[in-house]
Amino acid sequence: MKTSLIDIRKDRDTALAEARRLIADGSVVAIPTETVYGLAANAFDEAAVRKIFEAKGRPADNPLIVHISELSQLAPLVTEIPEKVRVMAEKYWPGPLTMIMKKSSVIPDVTSGGLDTVAVRMPKSEYARAIISACGVPLAAPSANLSGSPSPTDAQSVFDDMNGRIPLIIDGGECEIGVESTVISFVGDTPTLLRPGGITVGMIESTIGKINISDAVLNRLRDGETAASPGMKYKHYAPKAKITIVKGDFEKFYNYVKDLDCFVLCFEGEEGHFNNAVTYGKADDSRSEAHRLFSALRELDEKGAKTVYARCPEITGLGLAVYNRLIRSAGFNIIEL
Ligand code: TXA
Ligand code: MG
Repeated sequence: MKTSLIDIRKDRDTALAEARRLIADGSVVAIPTETVYGLAANAFDEAAVRKIFEAKGRPADNPLIVHISELSQLAPLVTEIPEKVRVMAEKYWPGPLTMIMKKSSVIPDVTSGGLDTVAVRMPKSEYARAIISACGVPLAAPSANLSGSPSPTDAQSVFDDMNGRIPLIIDGGECEIGVESTVISFVGDTPTLLRPGGITVGMIESTIGKINISDAVLNRLRDGETAASPGMKYKHYAPKAKITIVKGDFEKFYNYVKDLDCFVLCFEGEEGHFNNAVTYGKADDSRSEAHRLFSALRELDEKGAKTVYARCPEITGLGLAVYNRLIRSAGFNIIEL
């Protein structure tokens, strides 16, 4: 299959018309969002959704997020809209927030990975919403990477993973946030954070009060443990290199790695101290770290890195999302100095 690219910033009408045509035809189209690129198909079309799983090589029990462009599209997807979801939607949609509720019968089992719940998000990216709206149906979309690889934050990264596997990539430039959306489950008495993202724990709790934080946010699942979010049990965000996170200040980090034959993943301004360095944003600036993390992981692969030592980010606010992705990409390999 030939994979075409259309830049929605330059050729908006063609991009929307082609997306509409292919989605109506039951195909898969990669689309930009403010978090990462998504691999989209009509959420109601089982055969189309199966093609997403094939293109990614994703296990069938890992459910997809259903993307909407207007609030009126939510009610038909779920059995009921909990009050806290209404409050969160009012405040943070459109935005990097995915909310899980009991699904209605319009959501096929392939889309929800066989669960009786569905994850819904209204993206902030105006391009994403224009595409959903042009297609006229909610779009099921996971991140547009091959299963296990770092999520793509620009169209070239999507192309690197999906060339030959899907007919169209819509280029909307670099994703603003760079890590996937916050995922919260509203099934059960207290909302539970399953994946940290652009809407931080502080933002959530100041809006709907105390939430639970799933153990899987910071810990590896033990063997046999069931994941609240199936995605958390799989290998994730992993480049080919073996990454080790080193906790401690820059001086300790430097002394630890200076004589090793390795690459380092460090913060801007530190790279001059090393022969082989890739940076991911500024120390103490979680926004810039989130924006760069996945492209930095891909850059390490392009440079042929085999062994990587990474500086540890701050773990507060958006930093929790950065750390959550980095520990997975490192297979929970952490050294404390
Ligand atoms: O920012 C994002 O959320 C991006 C863009 C494209 O919107 N999408 C994304 O999708 O990251 P994906 O499939 O890579 O990650 C969705 C996560 C997975 O860990 C999945 O297991 C979890 O959400 N998830 C989806 N539906 C769920 C459900 N019903 N119950 C529990 N977890 C669910
Ligand atoms: Mg993903």
